[in-house]
Amino acid sequence: MRDGWIIVTGASRGIGAAIASDLARRGAKVTALSRSGNVSAGLRGIACDVSDEAALAAAFETLSKDGPIVGIVNNAGQHRGGPSATLTAGDFESLMRLNATSVFVASRLAYPYLVKAGGGTIVNIGSFFDKLGVAENLAYCASKAAAGAIARCLAVEWARDKIRVFNVAPGYIETDLNREWLTSERVQSWIKRRVPVGRPGQPDEVARLVGCLMAEDIGFLTGETIYIDGAHGINH
Ligand SMILES: NC(=O)c1ccc[n+]([C@@H]2O[C@H](COP(=O)([O-])OP(=O)(O)OC[C@H]3O[C@@H](n4cnc5c(N)ncnc54)[C@H](OP(=O)(O)O)[C@@H]3O)[C@@H](O)[C@H]2O)c1
Repeated sequence: MRDGWIIVTGASRGIGAAIASDLARRGAKVTALSRSGNVSAGLRGIACDVSDEAALAAAFETLSKDGPIVGIVNNAGQHRGGPSATLTAGDFESLMRLNATSVFVASRLAYPYLVKAGGGTIVNIGSFFDKLGVAENLAYCASKAAAGAIARCLAVEWARDKIRVFNVAPGYIETDLNREWLTSERVQSWIKRRVPVGRPGQPDEVARLVGCLMAEDIGFLTGETIYIDGAHGINH
């Protein structure tokens, strides 16, 4: 693990909180960003709405005073669905702003700090919806496809700076985002049939994958979308 700060956005709960804990367990210095600024004990938290560019820039500025920044996990995101026939441009843009624009902006803000540190790692948290056609999920699917595209473009552009960029794309993971939906009997039996491993994933499973990518500095591995979905997305 490189010596320096790793920023995890949306780390007050769910997948982000698990990623922050896993990185801390591996000895990383972690700063968790979220609107509430809440974090588990022992971690540093900064209140920051990632869709606010000025707030993000201020968070980087504050953190950089306490040492090098060597990584960022762009995890903060929301799910919103609904019929495409009535989806407004405003609603589409607002989800794109949070799930895609903030990923690009945070990565761009991280860039000079990672260069100064001699390299680093960026991990976006996408979704296996990025390659699927999901009814009533147009904005979410588009935003997660963008997270993968951003990872590919930055990986190519910043490879010479020794910056590796990934997109980790989870399937159904049990968190606040979907817990109520996942508890219904109808959904549970559908998941048993549809997901080859027969269950939803847990936040720590995504966290351990992100932890490996951060800890193992495999220079030739970059730009990839790595699906962690119990083989759901490839199941015919
Ligand atoms: N759960 C799944 O099945 C699943 C599957 C595929 C992909 N994902 C992706 O994984 C990521 C995390 O999802 P999750 O299930 O852990 O969601 P979650 O339990 O709802 O947690 C979302 C986190 O993001 C933060 N957040 C939301 N809006 C924010 C903003 N504008 N600025 C800063 N932080 C913000 C929240 O904290 P505050 O409320 O304090 O801001 C919270 O820490 C998302 O990008 C999601 O799309 C999830």
